[in-house]
Amino acid sequence: MDKKSAWDRFYSETSSRNPNFKNFEWFFGFDAVRDFIMPLLQTASLPPSPLQVLDMGCGTSALGPCIYRDSVLPVRVTCADISPVAVQLMREHLQAKSIKPLNVSSHIEFLELDCTQLDQHFAANSLDLIVDKGTIDALLRSKEGTEKAALVLKQCLRVLRSSGSLLQFSDEDPDARLVWLETAIGDQGLVAADVGVQEVGVLRGVCYYCYEVTPQNDVNK
Ligand SMILES: C[S@@+](CC[C@H](N)C(=O)[O-])C[C@H]1O[C@@H](n2cnc3c(N)ncnc32)[C@H](O)[C@@H]1O
Repeated sequence: MDKKSAWDRFYSETSSRNPNFKNFEWFFGFDAVRDFIMPLLQTASLPPSPLQVLDMGCGTSALGPCIYRDSVLPVRVTCADISPVAVQLMREHLQAKSIKPLNVSSHIEFLELDCTQLDQHFAANSLDLIVDKGTIDALLRSKEGTEKAALVLKQCLRVLRSSGSLLQFSDEDPDARLVWLETAIGDQGLVAADVGVQEVGVLRGVCYYCYEVTPQNDVNK
């Protein structure tokens, strides 16, 4: 699950089974997590420029497009994935669907990007929100993906603003994920990051969680 070719195959096969495009959602769709995401895009003072949002490992999920559509404040949503097949499917879908955002200054883009290299596309301290639905999970569950997962976390903390947040939606139990997050942050010398967890809910007998990582001032150096 950490291999680009495997994901390309997955999205090619999924789309060939459904000739009419349908978003594929890992775990659940936007409605289940809207209340965790949208409050983070409401600031007391109007930001001078659009809030920068990344859906990391977007696949063909509707999450990024829904954030773009529903944000009251202007947002610039980047939906990034290592799979060019997923990225192309989403570009074509959005072109065909032409979503109207609540805020006319909002923008959305789809990008082929390996999230172990976020800093090649985003400047340090430049993103307000990173959303990860199942991507770090996929890496952590791969034989050779655990190092990549730690690298992705490091990259997230580099490109997030100190006021920003990384939200991870996962079915991994807090006993395991909180330890992993705290250890990975500590191992990388990223001492000043807070980690929290809330329950998203139970779906088909599985409990899902929202992990929030917030960098503090000195981690983006
Ligand atoms: C479990 S799926 C989740 C997809 C989507 N977020 C959703 O909710 O449906 C994991 C996604 O991560 C992408 N991915 C895996 N490794 C990646 C990497 N190194 N950089 C960017 N995306 C990656 C895969 O292509 C896949 O789309």
